[in-house]
Amino acid sequence: MNLTKTFIVVLFAVMLSYPAIISAEGDPTTTPGYYPKEYINMKNPLPFNLSVLRDGRKLYTGHCEICHGVHGDGKGDAAVIGKFNPMPRDFTDNHIMSKKTDGMLFYSISRGVHGTRMFAREDIMPPNQRWAVINFIRTFSK
Ligand code: HEC
Repeated sequence: MNLTKTFIVVLFAVMLSYPAIISAEGDPTTTPGYYPKEYINMKNPLPFNLSVLRDGRKLYTGHCEICHGVHGDGKGDAAVIGKFNPMPRDFTDNHIMSKKTDGMLFYSISRGVHGTRMFAREDIMPPNQRWAVINFIRTFSK
C-alpha cells in the first residue's frame, strides 16, 4: 500500500467512527474507566425482598419518576418536556443494565452523572435508601 492510499484508508476509518464518538459523548458513563474501582464491586447490603422493593418504589416515585418515567423507560415528564440531552437512563434496556453492577449504579446515584441532569443524591438520601431504590430499578429489566 502506498502512502496516499494508506492516508485515504485512515481518513475513512476516522470519518466512519465519528458518529460513534459523538453518540458516546451523550452518555458519560460509557467512557472507559468512568467508575472508580472501589465502587464497581460494592455489594448491595439489602436483601432483594418485597419490603425493600416497597421502600424502593416509594423512593423512586418521589425522587426519580419525574425523569426516569413511571415505567422506568427514561421518558419521564420532565425529561420529555425539557428535551433532556442525554435523556435519563432507560432502566428497561437489558443490554445496558445487565452491564451495570449495583456498585456502579450506587456511584452514579450518590455522585450524579456529571454533565447530565442526573444530580448527586448522597447529601439527601442515606445509603440504605440508595440501595433500596437500586433494587427497585432492577425490576424494570430482566
Ligand atoms: C432531573 C432528572 C433526573 C432525576 C430526577 C433522576 N435522574 Fe437519574 N438520570 C438522569 C439523567 C439525565 C441520566 C444520565 C443518562 C446518561 O448518562 O446517559 C441519569 C442516569 C441515571 C442512572 C444511570 C447511571 C449509570 O451509571 O449508568 C441511574 C442508575 C439513575 N439515573 C438513577 C436515578 C435515581 C435512583 C433517581 C432518583 C433518586 C434519579 N436517577 C433521578 C436524570 C434524572
